[in-house]
Amino acid sequence: MTLIKEPNLLLIPGPTPVPECIMKIINSQPMAHRSVEFSQILTETTKDLQWLGSTSNDAFILTGSGTSAMEASIVNFINPHDKVICLVMGVFGERLAQIAQAIASNITIIKSEPGCGIEASELESVLKQDLNYKAVLITHNETSTGVTLKLKEIAAICQKYNVLTIVDAITSFAAIDIPIDEWGLDVVITGSQKALMLPPGLAMIFVSAKAWTAYDLNQNAKFYLDLNKYRKSMANNTTPFTPNVNLIAGLNESLKIIKRTGKEAVFNRHKVLKTLVRKFAQKFNFDLLVTDESFASNSVTSFKAPKQLSVNELRASLKEQYKILIADGQNELKGKIFRVGHMGYIFERDILMLENALVNIMGINPHK
Ligand SMILES: Cc1ncc(COP(=O)(O)O)c(C=O)c1O
Repeated sequence: MTLIKEPNLLLIPGPTPVPECIMKIINSQPMAHRSVEFSQILTETTKDLQWLGSTSNDAFILTGSGTSAMEASIVNFINPHDKVICLVMGVFGERLAQIAQAIASNITIIKSEPGCGIEASELESVLKQDLNYKAVLITHNETSTGVTLKLKEIAAICQKYNVLTIVDAITSFAAIDIPIDEWGLDVVITGSQKALMLPPGLAMIFVSAKAWTAYDLNQNAKFYLDLNKYRKSMANNTTPFTPNVNLIAGLNESLKIIKRTGKEAVFNRHKVLKTLVRKFAQKFNFDLLVTDESFASNSVTSFKAPKQLSVNELRASLKEQYKILIADGQNELKGKIFRVGHMGYIFERDILMLENALVNIMGINPHK
């Protein structure tokens, strides 16, 4: 029996809500992936991705979750003997370091405390001690804490020391402006289920000419993630393997929506949402995990567990009473923080709903 059911509101840092017009496209019968029609969609989508990243670098769409692009960003450009620096601020920086360690043995980790960022000067102090580093692995927006690095400054240091910049922008691309060419980023990756407003299943990767030079010297065994296969296929407006055609058609629509809205307007909306969510700290007496405003993410905000109830209780009340989903902390932060995702198809109204639900759950005076 079908009942009228209130849908969940996903205020988690991915997957994020998907607009109805995109859902309709994704729910259509699949297209033939070698058809002229699909080639046109693929070519247009790739160009729109380049537009959103303000870049003329190659862009490829992989069928896989974001981690497939994390692996591709390393296996194609880092050799086993290369010296690499990895900036680690949480779970996803750690994952990048683990992938790098599976391929190369000489990985230097620069680690911050949970909720803290890493300044470009800290990176420079390591780079200047040893001029043999090949690449720096950067998590632009650490989703497990809600820290965003000052990528422009970090990229400038990488250029000064002539190292490759490999950037995980999975929860920042389409939420925060990342002008890839202007900042000189060599490899940038993102995923579908975040600010691009799609279900999980696609990962995207941008590759600079400098990164292709590193590719030419690369000795790692690779097949599905061998980016040269994607480069050769894209020269003929196609993909090396059967891609998720439905999600690519959905991505085409998502990028069109962003184009029509204007990317500045999209980035600004994320900034406004960040400000609204951070105001919860004052209103509910929550402690922010990221106290340095200059590192506060526009797409995810973390608060320490409230004094009155546990993170589990808070999440359960929001889900059961209001169908609002927020996220727990991960690994050692599990139960210690809760995270609010505000990226993609999320608006001020959604944040106001969360705020009102919190007013009731926390039992506070709404006029305070
Ligand atoms: C910053 C960051 N990197 C990588 C990933 C991994 O992506 P996926 O779960 O799609 O493999 C995530 C997922 O949340 C992420 O937030």
